[in-house]
Amino acid sequence: MKKIYGIGIGPGDAELLTLKAYRLIEASSCVFIPENKGDSLAGRITNEYIKDKRVIELSFPMGADNQERYIQGAALINDTLKEGESGVFLTLGDPMTYSTYAYLMRALVDLKIDTETVPGITSYNAAAALLGLPVALRDESFYLADGDVSEDILKKIDTVCILKVSKNKQDIISKLERNGFHYYYVKRCTQESQSVITDKEGILADKDYMSLIFARRS
Ligand SMILES: C[S@@+](CC[C@H](N)C(=O)[O-])C[C@H]1O[C@@H](n2cnc3c(N)ncnc32)[C@H](O)[C@@H]1O
Repeated sequence: MKKIYGIGIGPGDAELLTLKAYRLIEASSCVFIPENKGDSLAGRITNEYIKDKRVIELSFPMGADNQERYIQGAALINDTLKEGESGVFLTLGDPMTYSTYAYLMRALVDLKIDTETVPGITSYNAAAALLGLPVALRDESFYLADGDVSEDILKKIDTVCILKVSKNKQDIISKLERNGFHYYYVKRCTQESQSVITDKEGILADKDYMSLIFARRS
């Protein structure tokens, strides 16, 4: 049987890969990486570990409906691996958190390719560490959201992290302010160009997709 390890490579700092991720990449001859508009952040992060291995890029444009591409990607993996061979698919953060891999995995399973998932450090874990703020303390609840927040949920929780905020920041910030949250905009967390923006104007002016808003009840 062919096998793919779906590996979470963390938020950007190459030292934030798990030992298991590192070992599996080292042991693999075939590395599959997601590519978007000619660039692969996952490839750049793991560059020093991939070295001269065979790298195959799978194109998954960010923010697009890639359903057909997951099927094509799985077919390419199937054609590339020999019977009994395994490869790794590298994905940012954690593979089971708003990740391309979760969709690709379904298409791989449909082709009877064995899969094993290796968890990674998420962007929100990295942001919490950078900000020195807990994700959750005793009796608290945490809300992870994608591109928008529900005010009904905000009223019941203590900490929230919103990913993919680039298109809807004004609305998100208004909801956070109305519900008594102190918020931080974290961009490219653990990467060379990492920054934290707290003033509203600065947050609204920024356009980077690799950004999130982390907020705690004041
Ligand atoms: C498709 S999701 C991937 C989430 C990823 N699987 C994880 O575990 O964090 C992409 C979104 O994750 C967030 N993200 C990923 N890496 C980030 C980083 N280093 N700094 C800030 N936000 C990041 C951004 O909100 C971005 O729009």
